[in-house]
Amino acid sequence: MANNDFRKQKLWGGRFTGETDPLMHQYNQSLSYDKRLYEADIRGSKAYAQALARIGILDQSEATQIQHGLDKVGQEWSTNSFTIHPQDEDIHTANERRLTEIIGPVAGKLHTGRSRNDQVVTDVRLWLVEQTILVETFLKDLIGVISSRALNEIDVLMPGYTHLQPAQPIRWSHWLCSHAFSFANDLDRLRGLMPRLNKSPLGCGALAGHPFSIDRATLAKDLNFGGVIENSMNGVADRDFIVEWLMWATLTLTHMSRFAEDLIIYSTNEFNFVTAADAYSTGSSIMPQKKNPDSLELLRGKSGRIFGQMTGFLMSLKGLPSTYNKDLQEDKEPLFDCVDSMKSSLQIATGVISTLNIHPEQMHKSLGMDMLATDLADYLVRKGIPFRETHHISGRCVAFAEKNKIQLSDITLDHLQQIDSRFSEDVMQVWNFEASVDRRNAIGGTARSAVEEQIKTLQSLL
Ligand code: ARG
Repeated sequence: MANNDFRKQKLWGGRFTGETDPLMHQYNQSLSYDKRLYEADIRGSKAYAQALARIGILDQSEATQIQHGLDKVGQEWSTNSFTIHPQDEDIHTANERRLTEIIGPVAGKLHTGRSRNDQVVTDVRLWLVEQTILVETFLKDLIGVISSRALNEIDVLMPGYTHLQPAQPIRWSHWLCSHAFSFANDLDRLRGLMPRLNKSPLGCGALAGHPFSIDRATLAKDLNFGGVIENSMNGVADRDFIVEWLMWATLTLTHMSRFAEDLIIYSTNEFNFVTAADAYSTGSSIMPQKKNPDSLELLRGKSGRIFGQMTGFLMSLKGLPSTYNKDLQEDKEPLFDCVDSMKSSLQIATGVISTLNIHPEQMHKSLGMDMLATDLADYLVRKGIPFRETHHISGRCVAFAEKNKIQLSDITLDHLQQIDSRFSEDVMQVWNFEASVDRRNAIGGTARSAVEEQIKTLQSLL
């Protein structure tokens, strides 16, 4: 191998004489997946060239030449005309190799004081900041459609469940908002991780720092980072921003899975509260009558996979020695998978919710008078009887209705008064689902006024 032929040698190849085992090359390379960082890599390198010019390592014409060359490399990627060379190892070496072909040996000045160790983590941070902004808009869209449905459908009542057993009547909108508030907390957490993510490691070098007094702060500002990482060894070692993102996604998808699970249950024939639109359902290859909520099942299932990516990557980090180790290359596939899954899941969930058909009559039919047993107890509380006692009295009414196979509301006043003499004519007002929900008007409740407040809060976040 001619040592001066940069095309045939690895960029780090100076002290190596033997050939790389082809399988080792395949095992070691990351270009097949990190090529999606090409734009961030070029953006980082252009800014770095400018920073080198500021300290006199490059003169301005060299910096300009490098920047134009990098633009050309970027165009090749974006027009799908970048030819990958068999020796290209990752996006950083591929871009530098191509830059050298385009502008010649002056390209060799670009990597002065820089290492792939600070370069790679700069690229991932730049890329992830951009993706985070995109994901934030998708998450806001989802919260937006849930809350506007909640507003439009505020009159719809349904059974609320605990232990998946009918518990008390609620507004459908209250249920919608309950999930939207989980997503609202996710939005808050996503915004919260940004300041730690958006810091520049560029100029940390391999580990010990930059030998030519590069102005890291200005360089960071040029790349729209919020600041610099203060310790160069930490800068090249730290992948906490990736762990945080994976954890964030795991929790968000866990919320998604619970949201989806409710809707899967509600879309069964047995409940029939909702039907997913055809656009988000599929048929069975054998049973013609089937319409399956695959979209919701995938939304539920993604959480498992992403949870696995999160724990898997944490395992890779655990016990690593200081600074850069090649194990850290294992950060990209889980992160990319996670970001892709988040983007698609949020958009699918938005689509499912905005097109979902609801069946208010079915929801209403499922409301049973026994769900007003607490209201019956509360009725007696309003007459001054301690709740522990009224709970017991209401329980006896439930037992009476069950024994006589009648609805709670069909117990005559006579019979009620036999159970407790403090029942009077006005007890009939208890048997009203609308009245029941609207009594729950304290903050957070299912009364119209309380749900409207919740919707307002949600919409104020967007
Ligand atoms: N492809 C590598 C990665 O993703 C780039 C950094 C390589 N650094 C090194 N010293 N070998 O982590």
